[in-house]
Amino acid sequence: MIIKTFNSLDIFKKRREKLNSLAGPDCVFILFSGEEGHLAPFRTQSSFVYLTGFEEPEACAIIKTGKKPEFFLFVRDRDPALELWDGERFGPLGAKKDFGADQAFSLKELHNELPQLLRGQSSIFYSMGEYLENDKIVFSARKQAVALDRRSGKSLSSLCDPNQIISQMRVIKDSHEKAWMKDCCELSAKAHTYAMKSIQPGMTEKQIQGILIFSFMQQNATTEGYTSIVASGANATTLHYRANNRKTQKNELILIDAGAEKNYYKADITRTYPVDGKFTSFQHEFYQAVLEVQKDLIHKVIVGFSLPELQEEAIRQLTQVMIDLKLLKGKLKDLIKNKSYQKYYPHGVGHYLGLDVHDVGFSKKDDQPVPFQAGMVITVEPGIYVPLGDQEAPKEFRGLGVRIEDDIYITKTRPEILTALAPKEIKALEAVVGSEPLRLPS
Ligand code: GLY
Ligand code: MN
Ligand code: MN
Repeated sequence: MIIKTFNSLDIFKKRREKLNSLAGPDCVFILFSGEEGHLAPFRTQSSFVYLTGFEEPEACAIIKTGKKPEFFLFVRDRDPALELWDGERFGPLGAKKDFGADQAFSLKELHNELPQLLRGQSSIFYSMGEYLENDKIVFSARKQAVALDRRSGKSLSSLCDPNQIISQMRVIKDSHEKAWMKDCCELSAKAHTYAMKSIQPGMTEKQIQGILIFSFMQQNATTEGYTSIVASGANATTLHYRANNRKTQKNELILIDAGAEKNYYKADITRTYPVDGKFTSFQHEFYQAVLEVQKDLIHKVIVGFSLPELQEEAIRQLTQVMIDLKLLKGKLKDLIKNKSYQKYYPHGVGHYLGLDVHDVGFSKKDDQPVPFQAGMVITVEPGIYVPLGDQEAPKEFRGLGVRIEDDIYITKTRPEILTALAPKEIKALEAVVGSEPLRLPS
């Protein structure tokens, strides 16, 4: 079975046209799809699939800009013996026919063809340092291109970072991307809800991770978008806890940070709730305070605001919560100035989301905040984490970690919460958690 996720290739052609206009003439972009490893399943490099729609490993795309832009693909040859084991390939003929390349070659021809393709180009956009073998091919071809052009007196073309331009494009989601992201966010939110319903004290974190993955796959996701964080009790105070090997107990909270990947787009959702479905009064107070901050921050996510400003606001509000909960003593202004809040809130409030969980896009440019634009998607994920051994914190809050994370599509008028299907209000959580216990195989 040939791998082909996208039916319409028109969107990829339009993206290459946009790249052409942003870069200006006489540029050449060199992108590789990535190598197939034996330990992890292969996933095509995000910018490669974004501009080509082609998903096989060991492929190279060359995009030349100018009045008559050109698109070349170098791909694996057809090979019946290998295809018997690993599945059908497009080969150069299929790559040209099915992916709209002006010309397609065997990857084996890259050494020979690349110097010709680089001749006379003023800038080469290539991301160095990702794979040494590819660096060698590109540098050698760049040198050979100058040698071929010696008589014309052309100098070595300059080497530029393709992400500067591609991230400008990727950070704004078009209507197709919005639909795919909404789909992935909604199925991920449903998987969270399914896990909430299924959960019972005594289940292990790994079993709960399994329930999430089951639900992702039942809804035709490609895979987990990243290793799910299933952190019960004080494990929730480890920000990127991934061991997922503890048995849950009643009277404690569980923090689940999980999202699927589908059509190459990711969701990124965190919910925190009691394993047995009932908040204690201290958990209630702590959770409600973080929830109110999160909801207030989401309201600010509209065109014109920015990630650095959102972080400032998160710091201000979370520090006030820390004072109210008696985690910190002192004046708000001083605690912010001397960064005391970092003890309990050590991370950023959010990030761009898309083909990667921490997606491309700049939050600052020339030291100035980059304003939100319509079509961006960001996460909003404030949290407070009190280490178990923190002798300065009130006893009842030690070992509590609460983070609440939603994915927001940005518009001019109102934040569109793509992950709203996953409950987060205390009442809703108490009604849902444990409501349909899952019988695990004995
Ligand atoms: N799941 C990783 C993050 O929230 O940034
Ligand atoms: Mn997350
Ligand atoms: Mn996140």
